Amino acid sequence: MDRRSFVARSGLALGALPLAAAPALASRPAPPRAFDPTDWESVRDQFPLTRDRVHMATFLLASHPRPVAEAIARHRDAFDRDPAHYWEEHFMTAEWEQREAVADYLDSDPALIALTDSTTMGLGLVYGTLRLGEGDEVLTTPHDHYSTIYALKHRQARDGITVRRVALYDDPAATDPDEVVGRMLAGVTDRTRVVGVTWAHSSTGVKLPIARMAAALGDVNVGRDEADRVLLVVDGVHAFGIEDETAPSLGADVLIAGTHKWMFGPRGTGIVHATREAWRRMTPVIPSFGPDVGVWLGVVPPDVVTPGDTFTPGGFHSFEHRWALGEAFRFHQRIGKDRIEARIHGLNTQAKDALAGMRHVRLLTPRSPELSAGIITFEVKGHGAEAVVAHLHERGITGSSSPYPVSYPRIAPGALNSPAEVERTVAAIAELG
Ligand SMILES: Cc1ncc(COP(=O)(O)O)c(C=O)c1O
Repeated sequence: MDRRSFVARSGLALGALPLAAAPALASRPAPPRAFDPTDWESVRDQFPLTRDRVHMATFLLASHPRPVAEAIARHRDAFDRDPAHYWEEHFMTAEWEQREAVADYLDSDPALIALTDSTTMGLGLVYGTLRLGEGDEVLTTPHDHYSTIYALKHRQARDGITVRRVALYDDPAATDPDEVVGRMLAGVTDRTRVVGVTWAHSSTGVKLPIARMAAALGDVNVGRDEADRVLLVVDGVHAFGIEDETAPSLGADVLIAGTHKWMFGPRGTGIVHATREAWRRMTPVIPSFGPDVGVWLGVVPPDVVTPGDTFTPGGFHSFEHRWALGEAFRFHQRIGKDRIEARIHGLNTQAKDALAGMRHVRLLTPRSPELSAGIITFEVKGHGAEAVVAHLHERGITGSSSPYPVSYPRIAPGALNSPAEVERTVAAIAELG
């Protein structure tokens, strides 16, 4: 049975009232010219982000580009006019369509993709549901975000799993990929079932060599039974939407990311992508509202249900945001994943080259694009993180400080910034010398 016929067979149909005609959009002023995805100024024009500041912290939470904002407005207006019918007409296909867009971007299968509300929800979903018992080890690092640390802490309290941490580098600026892989492998024991890491660290800006780490764990897994294999679980949020990678090229067993940061997706959206084997190692907690409902009603055969259906937390959501997610992935692909990667790396290299020449600045983030993505963390002699951010703010530049026990100032040149804005930002940092 396909997804469209499920609704009719499920007994969920409300009756075929015609939907009101598509409402007028609560839309923005028309752009000055047609969207040209090859022109960065035209890309920038698709965002309502104010022009009176330099935005060097859009990685925290996205501004919605025009196609995303228009899709949200379309869904919101239709829900406001007739929520029950609009939901009934779209609920079974709309999420699948978003997952198809994510799968196209990741060169994968929508069946393997679950939708979430954030990176944090994805981390909780994965670390909360992996089948792990007392004494099973999760190997992780001190470089991860609070959300990874607490997802594992909660699991540890519940099930007595062992969480071990291994530092993958001491001096972030001098990160060495061979050493990263070597330190990870040295931390793996016979009891290790999961290696949980973060692709790009928001504490230091270091980007890990995930594909190499995945390959090294592949060797460890040779000869292990499926249930004992080490899964590589990756919080990918600060490289997803920057790096020109696919699920196969990355090689992680589980990739978790919010899509409301670098991906420019609707605020309150995220994804989990896992291999079939990795999904088999998890047991869901929150009931989905997908075809599982049809299985329960006896109108859908269980074998049509995919892991991505079952692991997408159910209940009603802010559907106007969730159902606009695919627009963000298509927007990225119209610009070109390779061009976005090159643009962001180029702006970051420009900023780091300038900062590296300042005697009062110490870069924590590696210079090489191989080991960094879009976040630059640094120290300014004689000025704490908050003071640096306040200085930038006074100069009309929005930076941020890292929310970690030791906090550093950060800037994050992204696809919406220009070389001139990077120049202005580093000039403001130079004034602190
Ligand atoms: C590495 C990392 N993981 C997870 C998060 C939390 O992301 P979300 O707001 O999507 O839950 C952040 C916050 O920016 C982060 O830096």
